[in-house]
Amino acid sequence: MSGLIAFPTEASAQAPSVDRLYLTLVVVSALIVLLVASLILIFSVRYRKGSKANRGPLPAFFSREIEVGWTLATLLAFLGIFTWASAARLVRLVPPKGALIIRVVAKQWMWKFEHPTGAREIDTLHVPLGVPVELAMTSQDVIHSFYVPAFRTKQDVLPDRITTEWFTPTRLGDFAIRCAEYCGTDHALMSGTVIVVSPSQYAHWANAHVDRNLMARGASAYNHLGCAGCHNANDNRAPRLAGLYGSRVALSNGHTVLADETYLERSILDPRADIVRGYFPLMPSYRGVATSEELSALVSYLKSLKEVQS
Ligand code: CUA
Repeated sequence: MSGLIAFPTEASAQAPSVDRLYLTLVVVSALIVLLVASLILIFSVRYRKGSKANRGPLPAFFSREIEVGWTLATLLAFLGIFTWASAARLVRLVPPKGALIIRVVAKQWMWKFEHPTGAREIDTLHVPLGVPVELAMTSQDVIHSFYVPAFRTKQDVLPDRITTEWFTPTRLGDFAIRCAEYCGTDHALMSGTVIVVSPSQYAHWANAHVDRNLMARGASAYNHLGCAGCHNANDNRAPRLAGLYGSRVALSNGHTVLADETYLERSILDPRADIVRGYFPLMPSYRGVATSEELSALVSYLKSLKEVQS
């Protein structure tokens, strides 16, 4: 453990914009504190008991132009900061196309990660340098919050819901992961390490740590949860699943969606969110039925159906 760090390293492409905003706010606040403190000092000397200073009404210029001026200036300054901060935040809501998607499951009191290759790890997270990484996160129990100070990125992790955050690492090395939402006795110990390595080292690592059982567990979940009942070929109650992953799906509301991992997972937890064109909303929700482990195994299995069929 390193000691108290006043200002963590900037290790992601997003960090500088957060720091600029933060430093601007600190400087502006410091200037205002300085101004108010000086006025208090000046006024307490000038208007001390027995002083001969003029205590009459203010000149019109002060009670009109100056009053209106500083009220407007404050309003504009706040609107400006609001626009700046929201713009920076909005940019971070949408991960870039082709980001590396890593699934995160939080539980009391650990972080579990699953890479696209099926490689899994706990409390350490390998990511490639310079590649946008999107985390698709959920919790098995209570609310946690995934926080990497060096990346300036923090996002709540909720049960029964997928939240995402993304970052592009810009420095090799180890960076702390913290849980930033009080989640029980060992909340303070729910930490970990992001290990940023070169893209080739990452590829090597991710292929060396493949969990070959994940797909098999997905296949068995598929059967014991009864998915096969409707989704097998020769049954027209439900859409075919082979080749689904990565395709575009036409919905009954006229929209189309990309069948990515988030879509697959949402369709299992909340089937009525996207009804596929030509089908009835028959499927029950598997929220609370499939565990998060089964979910990630199922998604991995559904993705493999593509690889087999195409
Ligand atoms: Cu998990 Cu605090």
